[in-house]
Amino acid sequence: MNPKRAMLEQKIKHFPVLLKEYIKIFDGKEIDFFLDGTLGAAGHARAILEAHPEIKTFIGLDKDQVALDLANENLKPWMGKANLFHENFKNLDKVLDEMNIEFCDGMFFDIGLSSMQVDEPERGFSFRYDAELDMRMDQNTEITAKDIINTWPEKKLEEIFREYGEERNSKKAAKEIVEKRRRNKINTTFELIKVLEPVLGKRRKIHPVTKIFQALRICVNDELNSLKEGLNKAILRLREDGIIGVISFHSLEDRIVKHTFKDDETLEVITKKPIRASFGEKNKRARSAKMRFAKKRKKNE
Ligand SMILES: C[S@@+](CC[C@H](N)C(=O)[O-])C[C@H]1O[C@@H](n2cnc3c(N)ncnc32)[C@H](O)[C@@H]1O
Repeated sequence: MNPKRAMLEQKIKHFPVLLKEYIKIFDGKEIDFFLDGTLGAAGHARAILEAHPEIKTFIGLDKDQVALDLANENLKPWMGKANLFHENFKNLDKVLDEMNIEFCDGMFFDIGLSSMQVDEPERGFSFRYDAELDMRMDQNTEITAKDIINTWPEKKLEEIFREYGEERNSKKAAKEIVEKRRRNKINTTFELIKVLEPVLGKRRKIHPVTKIFQALRICVNDELNSLKEGLNKAILRLREDGIIGVISFHSLEDRIVKHTFKDDETLEVITKKPIRASFGEKNKRARSAKMRFAKKRKKNE
């Protein structure tokens, strides 16, 4: 086996979160058009294509070219019907227009980072590895975590740490960064940790910089705005009786999903409480995952 293929095989062995529960929701549903907005390694995509051979057209998006290459590899058996795009799901309307598809019968978003992205040291997402502060999901976008840390004003840093990280020491963290970067640019994950650890203090359950890292990656990838925009567009392109589902991994995302579903009069919420992982889930990320589904009401309902 060639080394590139072997590496892909290795990565494909990641475990999609809440897979059985996901498939169960679509059980018995006739699906012609299905959109997966966050392909990743295409674990959920494979499962839905296996469970629903009647799917005529599958549309898959990911803003990460590495993930897309992997998904391409993983979805080879369905290449006749699978159409994959390097695209942010907030632009799903453009992709559907391009394909002349007005409505989908099912839509799914497993948002946030994949374990592949977190475990790839050079992407700079993880505080476990020493790497350049990058954190871009889409390698074509310009702004990196390094740019934010080294150029944004103190007030703005404080704001993102508070809003996107819910970090209680956001003010102290921002002040320390600005002070330290005057002398030396902060280039890497470990340099940032060295600056922040003394001001953040020890935490019992999580690494002290967890929330700052979360804030940075949400900001670099404009994650919350993409989620709001993408969900609203998805709902408009969901067929009557069609089902939309989202897996989220922290409270900021889950709040958006919950309220968007609840406040939209065209939707009926299927999961009054989010579906959570059972004890036996193999994927560690599953512990914090929450999955919610809603159905598009029929016009006369
Ligand atoms: C948790 S992984 C998906 C895993 C996938 N369900 C599987 O079974 O392999 C999330 C993926 O969504 C992608 N992503 C996150 N936000 C996105 C967005 N706004 N548009 C497109 N892709 C996005 C990430 O690049 C990542 O590959």
